[in-house]
Amino acid sequence: MSSPFPKWATEPIRIADPDPTWPEKARRLQHQLSTLGIPNSEHIGSTAVPDLPAKPIIDLLATIPSFDNIEALVEPLRHEDWHYVPPELDQRPYRRLLIKVENEKRAAHLHLMLPHSVEREAEILFRNLLIRNQPLRAQYAALKKGLAAEHADDREAYTNAKTQFIKNALAMAAKPRIIFATNNQHKVIEIQSAIGDKLEVISLKAAGIDIDIPEPHDTLEANATEKSSTIHKLTNDNCFSEDTGLEVMALGGEPGVLSARYAGETRSFEENIKKLLTGLGDNPDRRARFRTVISLNYNNTEHLFEGICEGRILPAPDGDDGFGYDPIFVPEGDTRSFGRMTLEEKNRYSHRRKAADQLVAFLQTQI
Ligand code: IMP
Repeated sequence: MSSPFPKWATEPIRIADPDPTWPEKARRLQHQLSTLGIPNSEHIGSTAVPDLPAKPIIDLLATIPSFDNIEALVEPLRHEDWHYVPPELDQRPYRRLLIKVENEKRAAHLHLMLPHSVEREAEILFRNLLIRNQPLRAQYAALKKGLAAEHADDREAYTNAKTQFIKNALAMAAKPRIIFATNNQHKVIEIQSAIGDKLEVISLKAAGIDIDIPEPHDTLEANATEKSSTIHKLTNDNCFSEDTGLEVMALGGEPGVLSARYAGETRSFEENIKKLLTGLGDNPDRRARFRTVISLNYNNTEHLFEGICEGRILPAPDGDDGFGYDPIFVPEGDTRSFGRMTLEEKNRYSHRRKAADQLVAFLQTQI
């Protein structure tokens, strides 16, 4: 039995590779629409985003003052093979939809929306977010390909499954975010947990920045400043960096600013610990402290924050949580090394937490 619907209404979902001719097709359709009484339409959706695989259907958005005279508005479009989808069928009360059919296939969608509608704002915001944010674009591309394979014959199921991703991306975009100039994921997790969920901390990788910033200076302050100003120059965005050192009293403050590379450029945590314990031998003076310096570059002004955690060095490593020198450092007020603590426990004492608290206190006066 033949289907009661035209072929284009039920065609399976196919995700095509990005096509550089999509913007030109959109422009041609926009021009046609303007001659048919719909001026100022915008190219939206995935075909408006460079380098994004998409259903090869051009989505256009036009804003109209009301849906009252919709029949009169769509009538001229019918002659150019634009098919009006009745709202009962479309089931999206916030828009009116037309589908342009070419060679029995959907070529374009025209979404008619009202000014100030939340859905209209979201469409535009999400498109702009995808254009700006390469990692988000890559995640979205992978999701769409997976969903298209899973729901090839169910356009509604495909669309619903995408909706959650879009909601999350928009919620993230609404939250203030700040770049943390580091590639150390441990530090990102520690700082995010110290800051809480009012502000989203994004690593260099998540910001799409692939560089290893040198730490050439002989103070934590100068290295922190170098890192935040490098990223600020690159992005023009607010950002912060931190530099941390372990200062052992009996070693005259070593390894200090050299903590990461104490035993050489391989930056091995094990080798660094070995060198430190060998240097300290059985010296009874085990006093040490972690010192963190945060450099915040905010609205073109630098602010420095310091956090210190006093403690002592164990004779041998104990525990394997955390990172770096955690297994040999016991903070004042506890008997366990940081290597035996959960992140929450470490954060009760941590140098990084103390510096982050000041950062947050400052940002709260600004946001
Ligand atoms: P940087 O701030 O990345 O230069 O860190 C210097 C080095 O200090 C790191 O490679 C770690 O070995 C060590 N370090 C920094 N923070 C901590 C910490 O919270 N626990 C243990 N070691 C740390």
